[in-house]
Amino acid sequence: MIACVTSSVDETRALGGAVAEVADVGDVLVLVGDLGAGKTAFVQGFAAALGVTAPVTSPTFTLANRYEGTMVVNHLDVYRFDCPEEVYDLALPELLDDGVTLVEWGETISAALGADYLSVTIRFGSGDNDRRFALHGHGERWQHRADRLRTALKPWISPC
Ligand SMILES: Nc1ncnc2c1ncn2[C@@H]1O[C@H](COP(=O)(O)OP(=O)(O)OP(=O)(O)O)[C@@H](O)[C@H]1O
Ligand SMILES: [Mg+2]
Repeated sequence: MIACVTSSVDETRALGGAVAEVADVGDVLVLVGDLGAGKTAFVQGFAAALGVTAPVTSPTFTLANRYEGTMVVNHLDVYRFDCPEEVYDLALPELLDDGVTLVEWGETISAALGADYLSVTIRFGSGDNDRRFALHGHGERWQHRADRLRTALKPWISPC
């Protein structure tokens, strides 16, 4: 587990960008945290670091937003699904293979996402703009990258 702290929305975007540096096509990131925690802010920084210039907002009229950068970024927000089973309306295997996929509230559909994923849990800190991050790599795919991820996140790492 890697524990990080940010103190502004821009710092959270920068942290998202740092995670993007180690990301690859086929990766899945599950974003966990209450309303307003900063899940979308993380995705914004992540996508920007991959050269996405389109504004990143949570999908509203579609189940998934697709952004073109140096790799494709798929953005899902399960909170906006009418029910978690809606995930089966997505061509999920094709979508996951197509690029890197970030899923807000993804814990409710984690069974459909496979064994390899990075969970990013965001909690509110003591100050209004403080956020505490816990990043957990699940499966071989992320275990192999644990050291690279830790190095990329160095500026924000805090003792647990
Ligand atoms: N350190 C911080 N990191 C991220 N966001 C912060 C931080 N400090 C303040 N904020 C504010 O918190 C809000 C985070 O909103 P965001 O839409 O990213 O949350 P979310 O987790 O995606 O919420 P939702 O569940 O509604 O989709 C923004 O208004 C942002 O400006
Ligand atoms: Mg959001």
